[in-house]
Amino acid sequence: MSKDTFSRREFLGVGAAVAGASLVGNPLVAAPIPHAAWQPPKGAPSDRVRFGMIGIGMQGSALLGQSIRLDGVECAAACDLYDGRHVLAREIVRPDLPVTRRYRELLDDKNIDCIVAAVPDHWHRQIVVDAVSAGKDIYCEKPMSHTPADGAAMLDAAKKSGRIVQIGSQRVSSQVCAKAKELIAQGMIGDLTLVEGWLGRNDPNGAWQYPPPPDLSPANLDWDTWQGTVPKRPFNPLVFARWRAWKEYGTGVAGDLLVHLVSGMLFMTGMNQVPRQAMAMGGIRRWNDGRNMPDVHAVLYYYGDLPVYMRLNLGTETPETYRFQGSKGILEVSGRTIAFSPQSGLDESPSYYAYSFPRALRDQYFKQWHAENDSRLAKGSMRESFSFTGPDFDDIKPHLWNFFDAVRTRRPVVEDATFGHHAALACHMANESYFTKAAVSA
Ligand SMILES: NC(=O)c1ccc[n+]([C@@H]2O[C@H](COP(=O)([O-])OP(=O)(O)OC[C@H]3O[C@@H](n4cnc5c(N)ncnc54)[C@H](O)[C@@H]3O)[C@@H](O)[C@H]2O)c1
Repeated sequence: MSKDTFSRREFLGVGAAVAGASLVGNPLVAAPIPHAAWQPPKGAPSDRVRFGMIGIGMQGSALLGQSIRLDGVECAAACDLYDGRHVLAREIVRPDLPVTRRYRELLDDKNIDCIVAAVPDHWHRQIVVDAVSAGKDIYCEKPMSHTPADGAAMLDAAKKSGRIVQIGSQRVSSQVCAKAKELIAQGMIGDLTLVEGWLGRNDPNGAWQYPPPPDLSPANLDWDTWQGTVPKRPFNPLVFARWRAWKEYGTGVAGDLLVHLVSGMLFMTGMNQVPRQAMAMGGIRRWNDGRNMPDVHAVLYYYGDLPVYMRLNLGTETPETYRFQGSKGILEVSGRTIAFSPQSGLDESPSYYAYSFPRALRDQYFKQWHAENDSRLAKGSMRESFSFTGPDFDDIKPHLWNFFDAVRTRRPVVEDATFGHHAALACHMANESYFTKAAVSA
């Protein structure tokens, strides 16, 4: 990836920043998050949405299995370049499900309303551009793009076609994140001073050392097409299963994991913009298995003037967590829970600096301080910490439902191509900064 792929024109060509959340104001009204599992509303039986599935691998098989359980949603056909995944799709949906290796057949099928795509990152651009150009709405997995130029082309195609594009960062549809967004907007943490986010894993699976399907061969996989426009390699089952490890196909921990942190952070703070600057560091510190993307990656962003610090580590486990720091306390969001620890932001005692005053001045200062503050302190300094529990923010059903519902009603989705592009650009900036060892500005 060359430096000029990050020209200011490209970044600014995607639309100006949207205003951040108001962080002051309304009194706090904190309703509990419903504990029951999320249930989609009932759609009218005649309003069936028929989708075509492209890519039935690790994520695609989950999306497929969840989608067909949604009310009024039906899978009409599935596509994958590996025949074993045709078998899998039929096992998930029905034994006579039409399957193909050619996704254009799904795009040409007038009985298909929309597409759900879960293919490796280097295929996102082509499939999204082809789908919207063929008049299909599309749910495409995160990260939206493999490069900034891919993202700009996808955004352009989405705008020109007017089709619905939903990017698959499910935090944006999570009840837990929606509650945190509400609390931040209500001013619970006061002025937002810093955002932190982190995620760590510590096992071979977490580091993408996935086992290739045992029967995989050029006879049952279209390896040539799988590689797309990337310089061709001889058939390699490890690359097929572990493509995330190489920048030619994947987008590193940035595109795999940081994109979740960034999209969740943007959603919860009410922002929809590209960071002004990114400074990253990291390395291949644990999994030196031939990969060319870092397994440790920490990045400091400026979102406007807001400092945001995100860190990913495939060598030490730390559950995915966001910590919003504000003048009135800390809001910590992790998986199913939100925890609030309040801080008054006020002095609880006279300043220790006054011990450097001569006695007369010190006495006068203490006397005045107590006169001004003791009644406030006497009212009690009990502060309420509390937490909420809700459905896991990794649940994909609400995000899928938001897409299918939008296809049916033509209402906007929660994560359109503009939002997806902004989140992906933050990841590309983190990668660019890592490789160039320099700050990258948008
Ligand atoms: N939202 C999430 O939490 C989440 C989780 C995992 C993966 N993902 C994303 O989902 C996408 C897929 O990841 P995965 O782990 O499922 O990958 P995978 O390798 O397990 O599956 C991808 C499938 O796509 C098929 N494919 C590739 N190119 C194709 C083409 N041109 N036409 C048809 N089929 C094609 C492959 O044969 C393979 O079966 C990635 O973008 C990834 O970042 C998102």
